Amino acid sequence: MPNLKAPPSPLPSSSPSSLTTTLTTALHIRRQNSTYRTLTIPPPDSIDFSSNDFLSLSHSPLLRTAFLSELHAHPAFPVGSGGSRLLDGNSPYAEALERSTAEFHGAEAGLLCNSGYDANVGLFGCVPQAGDVVVWDELVHASVREGMRLSRAAGRTVMFRHNDCADLRRVLTDVRGKDEKVRDGKASVFVAVEAIYSMDGDLVPLKRVVDVVDEVLPRGNGHIIVDEAHSTGVLGPLGKGLVCQEGLENRIFARLHTFGKSMACSGAIILCSPLVRSYLINYSRPVIYTTFMPFPNLAAIQASYSLLKSGEAEPLAARLHELVQILFHRLQALAAKFGGVESLQRNGLLTVPSEIPGSPVFALLTDHPRSLATHCQKAGYMVRAVVPPTVPEGTSRIRVCLHAGNNEEQIEGICSEIEKWLTSWCARLQCGEKVTPEKDRPRL
Ligand SMILES: Cc1ncc(COP(=O)(O)O)c(C=O)c1O
Repeated sequence: MPNLKAPPSPLPSSSPSSLTTTLTTALHIRRQNSTYRTLTIPPPDSIDFSSNDFLSLSHSPLLRTAFLSELHAHPAFPVGSGGSRLLDGNSPYAEALERSTAEFHGAEAGLLCNSGYDANVGLFGCVPQAGDVVVWDELVHASVREGMRLSRAAGRTVMFRHNDCADLRRVLTDVRGKDEKVRDGKASVFVAVEAIYSMDGDLVPLKRVVDVVDEVLPRGNGHIIVDEAHSTGVLGPLGKGLVCQEGLENRIFARLHTFGKSMACSGAIILCSPLVRSYLINYSRPVIYTTFMPFPNLAAIQASYSLLKSGEAEPLAARLHELVQILFHRLQALAAKFGGVESLQRNGLLTVPSEIPGSPVFALLTDHPRSLATHCQKAGYMVRAVVPPTVPEGTSRIRVCLHAGNNEEQIEGICSEIEKWLTSWCARLQCGEKVTPEKDRPRL
């Protein structure tokens, strides 16, 4: 017998649900704080000073050719994945790629993950055990924080000041002093750092971090995890990363290399011991409960690594480092025109790096990030304003990223736009105008 009862009528449109009200209010607050996020598409002809495509491989015929020949070499390739890697998503191709990538980076083992985000959430989410502690640089990526939040060590995480080894020592000493199990080597302390910090572009002083951890935790229960998202392809011999550059492969507990930046694909690999790899396969939820990358994705990773391994990407990395020097010196000259680095900084207009950054990421701090970013964008240069909570309060900036495919003319172009912008702001200041910083958002 069919159910002839009329379905309940929907709520009249004049009374929004409480969820609608909550979501609308949250977004309204964001608009008021100028923190409302929207998806944008960069104008096709704008010059890229923003993306993480550091080696400019994304549109490179080199990578496209390598990718297509990888596909042609496997004409019967499956387009789909088949499932979680634990069920039908695995393949000899994935296992071989994983092994060769780990070997390239001088690691015992590796585990491919669908993204760097998944990798960090899984690693930090499952490896620290009850009673362990995670000590983290204040600027580590959101994915590490998310992993820590989900982990059994969630209530036992301690931050140290960015790249400050004295503060790291203080924190570790404090942890050791208060916790007998840590002191006795029965509980572990994980230390989370990034090779190149994504928003500041500076490098971790890795050797010093290793020394501090070994000194304070001599029983071998200090485990360093290095996120090489931004250094993959950029630092180290053949682009192997910072850990290889420093020869610290055997002193680091785990490394993360992501493929969405210089490698111009997507996905990631966790480099670790075979034991940790097995543990992740058993306990990392983002590994277990998701469909694994399909063949075309794996082939793109293979193709991109073939360029690193063959040395074809080396001239790109070398060019990138050359451009870093050029931009640095151009910014110094620019600051000199406006009375020097300190004068600009004092007015909250612009802070340029005082040392040559070790990476292609330049953080140009300013109290007026959106104004500066918009000015550059209108002139055809794609840079973005980065504001809290992505970066700490009071450190709003534009993030200028260099790429192997940028050239001197483009660097000259963006610097002269920054100069025009500075000139107009200085004129306003000289006229006695009270220029207030763009509003930093409160944390929501
Ligand atoms: C330092 C760092 N770690 C991890 C990730 C996440 O990597 P993915 O983009 O592959 O998810 C990012 C991405 O922005 C990152 O900057």
